[in-house]
Amino acid sequence: MSEGTDSAGMDRAMTTLSLMRAGESDPNSDRKQVISMSDFTGKVALVTGGGSGLGEAISKDLAAKGAKVVVTDINLDAAERVVGEITGNGGTASAIKQDTSSKDDSEKVVQFAVDTYGALNYAINNAGIGGKQLPVGETDLDSWDKVIDVNLNGVLYGMRYQIPAMLEAGASESAIVNMASVHGSVAAINNGAYTAAKHGVVGITKNAAAEYGAQGLRINAVGPGYITTPLLESSLDADTLEGLKAKHPLGRLGTAEEVAKVVSFLLSGDASFVTGAYYLIDGGYTAV
Ligand SMILES: NC(=O)c1ccc[n+]([C@@H]2O[C@H](COP(=O)([O-])OP(=O)(O)OC[C@H]3O[C@@H](n4cnc5c(N)ncnc54)[C@H](O)[C@@H]3O)[C@@H](O)[C@H]2O)c1
Repeated sequence: MSEGTDSAGMDRAMTTLSLMRAGESDPNSDRKQVISMSDFTGKVALVTGGGSGLGEAISKDLAAKGAKVVVTDINLDAAERVVGEITGNGGTASAIKQDTSSKDDSEKVVQFAVDTYGALNYAINNAGIGGKQLPVGETDLDSWDKVIDVNLNGVLYGMRYQIPAMLEAGASESAIVNMASVHGSVAAINNGAYTAAKHGVVGITKNAAAEYGAQGLRINAVGPGYITTPLLESSLDADTLEGLKAKHPLGRLGTAEEVAKVVSFLLSGDASFVTGAYYLIDGGYTAV
C-alpha cells in the first residue's frame, strides 16, 4: 500500500477509535464527543489535475475519507492510475480527461460527476503548470498565454460550471478549494505569469466567496510553499531545490499529503465559518 492510500474503511474505523479513546481518557469529559466533520461519505468531489502531485494526494485523501472522487487530468493515463490505486484500496473514483483551459471540458466534467454519482459537492481546482523562466521584460508571450489559460482561466471555467451544480446539490453541503501558491501573495522571480495567475486565483476566490456566501457555499484558496512533486522536480535543478529548502523557516520542502490535509479541512464542516480565505501551507515561506 503506497503512502496516503489507507483504505476508506480503515480510515473511518481509526477515526472512530480515536474519538472513543478521547472520550474515555479525559477525566473531565462529560462524554460529549466532538465528532470530526471530515467524513465525506456520500459526497462527490472533483479534483482537476488529479493525476499527479498535489491533486493525486488530495484525491486519495478525499477518497480515504469516504468521498466519491472524479479525478480529471489532461493526462488520462495518470488519472486512471490514481483511480486504480483508490479503488484498489476500497475507495470510489472515476477518471476523465480534461484540459482545464477548455471551457467545454470544464462543463463536461461537471456533467460527468452529476451523471456518474448524482451530484457535485466539492471541487478542487488544482491543475497548474510552471511556464518559462524569464524576467518580465523578456516574457515569452506564448508561455504567458498558456500559464494564464491553465492556472487562472482554468479555475474560473471550473467554478463557472461547478457552482450551479453545487447550488443544485445544496450549497451548504458543498465547498470549493482553489489551488493558489505562496506566489498568490509574493513574486515568483522570473515567472511573472505564474505570479499573476496565482494572484488572480486568490482574487477570483474572494469574489466567488462574497457572491455565494449568502447561499452557504464556501469557497477558499490555499497557498502552498514549495512542495516535493513531479512539477517541482521537473522544473528546477537539484541545487535550486536545495536552496529553496532554506527559504522555508521549517528548513524543508512540504509534502503533498500536508497540503491535502488542509484542503480536506477547508472542505469539511470543521471549516464551516471559513470562506474567502487564502490559507498558506508554506512552512513559513511568506513570514520572512
Ligand atoms: N509543487 C509545488 O511546490 C506547488 C506549490 C504551490 C502550488 N502548486 C500548485 O499546485 C498545483 C499542482 O501542482 P503539482 O506540483 O502537483 O504539479 P504536477 O505536475 O505534479 O501535477 C499537475 C497535474 O496537472 C495536470 N495538468 C497540467 N495541465 C493541465 C490542464 N491544462 N488540464 C488538466 N490537467 C492538467 C498534469 O498532467 C498533472 O497530472 C498547480 O496549480 C501548482 O501551481 C504547486
